[in-house]
This record gives sequence, structure tokens and C-alpha cells, in this order.
Amino acid sequence: MDNRSNDGHLPASVLDAQAALYDSELLATERRRYEDALRAFSERAGPGATVFVRAPGRVNLIGEHTDYNHGFVLPMALDKDTLLVVRPRSDTLVRLWNIEEERFPAHQFTIEREIPPGPLGDWGNYVKAAAQALAARSSVVRGMDILVSGAPPLGTPRAAGLSSSSALLVAAALAFTRLNGIVLDTVDFARMCSEAEWYVGTRGGIMDHFASVLGQRGHALLLDCRPRLDAGAGRAHYVMEPVRIPDGYNVIICNSGVQRQKTSSQYNVRVAECRLAVTLLKRSHPAITHLRDVSAEALALPHDDVLALIETLPERLTMREIDADTALRATLAALNTAFSAEQVFLPRARARHVVTENERVLTGVCALRAGDAAAFGALMNAAHESMSRDYDASCPEVDALARIARAVPGVLGARVTGAGWGGCVVALAAQSATGFAETVAPAYHAATGLRTDIFVCRSGPGASFVGDMP
Ligand code: GLA
Repeated sequence: MDNRSNDGHLPASVLDAQAALYDSELLATERRRYEDALRAFSERAGPGATVFVRAPGRVNLIGEHTDYNHGFVLPMALDKDTLLVVRPRSDTLVRLWNIEEERFPAHQFTIEREIPPGPLGDWGNYVKAAAQALAARSSVVRGMDILVSGAPPLGTPRAAGLSSSSALLVAAALAFTRLNGIVLDTVDFARMCSEAEWYVGTRGGIMDHFASVLGQRGHALLLDCRPRLDAGAGRAHYVMEPVRIPDGYNVIICNSGVQRQKTSSQYNVRVAECRLAVTLLKRSHPAITHLRDVSAEALALPHDDVLALIETLPERLTMREIDADTALRATLAALNTAFSAEQVFLPRARARHVVTENERVLTGVCALRAGDAAAFGALMNAAHESMSRDYDASCPEVDALARIARAVPGVLGARVTGAGWGGCVVALAAQSATGFAETVAPAYHAATGLRTDIFVCRSGPGASFVGDMP
């Protein structure tokens, strides 16, 4: 740990590590960002040794709301990350600052087995979530002084469905883990991070954290979200494979600027709808434990019969109907989430989305491997329609943005990415296509009155220490 903060200059080990992490044209600005963060840290915590830790956000190319159904996803880590300047402490205190202090006010808390969360949506909760997860694994977890620098364009855009919050959690967890000498296998670490995030009140899946931890430059990550028990090691492992983005194409992200208020509660309702669908399908097909199992292969049925099976699910279920059925009632109770008495659940449409989305991921990966970007683009469009219609996880602005993006010559497909209900559209476009932003931004503004931020995104490497590490 030799990042002396006294003169604000970065040591050679940090400069070397940056050269391996970031694109060469960004190195000078990254360097300034690190220096600014170091300076801001020492202004608050005083001079002394520090380390840098970073974790990227992610964009999901296809496979939405499939992860918590043990299905398939294809995210890629962004070349935009959340950076932490960290100094370990000898006590259990965590002092947390953000370089954007006005938007993200400072926090201080003590590491305990149960750390009381701040209000819903508070940024400090993601660091508390990481600390509490570590406290559950080790009886002695020392605290840290942390300064966070995550402002775009080098940082992941916030409130945009690109997992900037998960990136903060992953970076903080990496620091807590390593600075406390706790040894965890990468996959165990990623999984711990995903479960840690339940602390903030959303029953999310594993995709965001796996992408942030295991991302590889130039690749998306095909991840099979079904854990397999490794009998020898007594723990779960996952099947995953890097998938190259074919040469000649850009992944473009357009932020709709729409942030829905109730995303977390809507998300939890979708998780419940999928579980209810499983409970009902199990009655005729006991081998189904997750919607992932509703496939021609797993059920040894013709594809049309699988689709017909989904159509046997009820279109709507009320709380009263669920209460009257012991198994459905137990399914909801197991989620440990409060739902209003007026909540209506739509298992049929939700199952239709998840089952067809899993098929689209697997077909899409074959298309990418064969260099057939057009086929992949068509699947992205179909995935958007399914998210919008069957999963009801889009919104008029995002639908408009996807439609406008697709109409640009050279664009092969465009879809909502992430949890939905706002956030970003991801598009795949031929590199030869020009004028994307110049066409999409004014057309989106004319259609919705909103501005969109557009950027070409390259896949970056997963979370890491930068420079000397403990
Ligand atoms: C959020 C969750 C992920 C995943 C996506 C939807 O990003 O955190 O686990 O479920 O939504 O695909």
C-alpha cells in the first residue's frame, strides 16, 4: 500500500495497472480522476497509505429477468467503473465519503452482524450491505475510510439500469474482503455480493454482480444462473463462457432519463409471479423447480407443447385466490416480502416472457458465435417486445427510444436493458453506421420531450485492486 497521498501523485504500480485496465485514449483523464479522488480522500481522512479498488457497471445484451429463474443471461462489464480510495482502520468504524458530496452525503457506521440500513434508496446502504455480508462470514471485520468516485463519463451512469449501485457494493466488498485477509473464491465472492444486495430491499438475482466481478475485456459473459452443487467442494458452481462481440459492431447505450419510483416493488412482484407460476406448473410436472425447467429439452416435449403448457396458467391471481390455496400461500410467504391486499399477479404472461427469453439467449449466443449479428439484433428486438408486453417492464418513453434507435440505418436491434421500467436501451449497430446520436437524440426529444445520453460502450475488465494490493 504505497499510494502516498501527501503529494497527490500516483505511484508507478497504479499507473501500470491503469494502462492495463483502461483504453489508451482515456488514460490521461483516468489519471486525473484518480489524483482528484486521492486528494479528496486525504482532505477528509488525512495523509497516509491508501489503496484503490474499482468495480464496473454492466449492460445486459439479452436475457432479462431470467437470472432469478435459474435461466441464462448475457451481460458485459462496462468500461466505466466505480472507484474507491480506501484506507483500513484498526477499529470497526466505516467512514464513507463521496466526491459528489452534495448528491451523496457522507456516512459513518460501525460494522456489526446487523447494521441498521438508512432510508430506502440511500447510497450508503450498498456499502453497509457489503460490510454486513462480510460480518456474517468472519467474526472480526475491521472498518475502513472510503472515498467513492463514480461520476460519469468515467463512472457508470447512475439510476440508469446499468448497475452502478451493484458496482459500489462489489468494490466495497472486495476492499472489506481483502483488507481483512478473508479468502474467497471469485464465484463465491460474486454470489456473496448478489445475496448481500438483498439488504437494500430488492430480491435481485446474480447477473449484475457476476458481470461486475467476472467481466472480461472484449467479451460478454454467457452465464447459466443455475447453481450446481460441487459435491467435492461442498459449494455451488456456475457454468459460464465468454462470448466475443463480433468485429465491426458497436454496442450503443441510450439512457432514456426515465427513472420509475416503484422499480423495487414491481421487481419483487415479478419474482413472486414467477414463483407462483412454478408452484402451479409443478402440479402437472413435478420436476419443475424454476421457470428454467420449462423447456422442450428439460420436459422432453415438443416446443409447441411447452408453449401450450404455459397457456394453461391462470392469466390473473388475486391475493384472495392465493390465500385460499395452501401451496400458493406458502410460495408467497417464502419470499418474505409484503404485498398489498389489492395486488394482482399475472403468472401466465410472466412465464411466457421468461421461457421464451431463455430460448432467445441461447439462440442469440449461437448467432454471435457464427458472426450473425443481424440474427442477434432480431432477437434483441423480440426480447424488447416480450419485456414490454408480457413482462410489463418497459414504459412508453423506453418503447419510443427502442423504436427510434431501430429505425437508424445500420442498427440491427435495440432493447430495454436491466430491470426495466425506465433506464437504458442497448442497441447493436454496424460500426459503419453513422449519425446514430444525431438522429436518435432529436427524434427522442421530439417524441417525449426528454433528453437522452448516448454512448458507445466497450466491454471492460471485472473488479480489481489498482496497483499494489494487500
Ligand atoms: C436487475 C437485477 C438483476 C436482473 C435484472 C433483470 O438488474 O439486479 O439480477 O434480475 O434486473 O434482468
